Amino acid sequence: MTAPSPPQAPAPDWNAAAETFDRWLPYIQPVGDRLIDLIDVRPGHVMLDVASGTGEPSLSIARRFGGVTVLGVDAAPAMVEKAAQKAAAEGLRHVSYRVMPGERLEFPADRFDRIVCRFGVMLFDDPVAGAREIWRVLKPGGRVAIAVWGPIDQLASVYPLWKLLPDFLPPADRPPEPRMTMLGAPGALDRVLTDAGWTGVTLEPMTVTYRFESPTTFWTLATESGLFKDLLPKFSCHALVAFKARALADIATYRHGDAINLPNLAILATADKPAEP
Ligand SMILES: C[S@@+](CC[C@H](N)C(=O)[O-])C[C@H]1O[C@@H](n2cnc3c(N)ncnc32)[C@H](O)[C@@H]1O
Repeated sequence: MTAPSPPQAPAPDWNAAAETFDRWLPYIQPVGDRLIDLIDVRPGHVMLDVASGTGEPSLSIARRFGGVTVLGVDAAPAMVEKAAQKAAAEGLRHVSYRVMPGERLEFPADRFDRIVCRFGVMLFDDPVAGAREIWRVLKPGGRVAIAVWGPIDQLASVYPLWKLLPDFLPPADRPPEPRMTMLGAPGALDRVLTDAGWTGVTLEPMTVTYRFESPTTFWTLATESGLFKDLLPKFSCHALVAFKARALADIATYRHGDAINLPNLAILATADKPAEP
């Protein structure tokens, strides 16, 4: 008998998230910068950004490199609209955006020289199908680099609040572990990429530290955008006051000097598709 698989967290409403998502961008920019370094962009490259959200890392690529063509695809129309608006506002004509699920890329095989995906694959309904599609549309001799989040207890911008939930929410109201951490367990990302047919994968851990002026600044961001925003309506008034007090006290323990430093573990995977003989 096979073990029952753990319940999958419902997909966040990314169209609703589009309005506030950009507040997180400064914190995760180092991960995009590292992905860009890893893919070694060259003039003439045709590039794809999968699950491009409000335009990263594709906008950063387009700002830094002329002479390349960049296409971003994302399943959420509101995200795609934001990305396209930014590209237009900055006059970046060599980057464009389309609505498209990562599991069904509407491109011929062997189309792109470089592919990036920052914090997308682990959110897909079917991460193996998405990774298989990415590999299919990558040119032989091309390179892909993606990032996913590590395990939940390695995410200081999530775990200190997450671990308090059993003290404040009845079991029926507690959500399953969020999708963002689904490929964080040791071996999980490697398994998905191998199942999808990727070869020669190099994995690299990266700690990205979010800095906040105070616990309250963090609380405001965490509860106005992202995972905890959707959870707040489940709390009674009394529980919310107590939860906030505990959360602020726990976050305060991350103070170093004049800032709250919250380290988060990302895992980056890079692979070169073998050139055809
Ligand atoms: C955490 S955001 C990351 C956005 C962007 N890559 C960044 O790093 O700023 C995740 C994005 O994945 C998109 N997404 C989720 N499931 C998807 C799927 N099956 N296919 C394509 N995009 C998807 C969401 O719409 C959202 O824009």
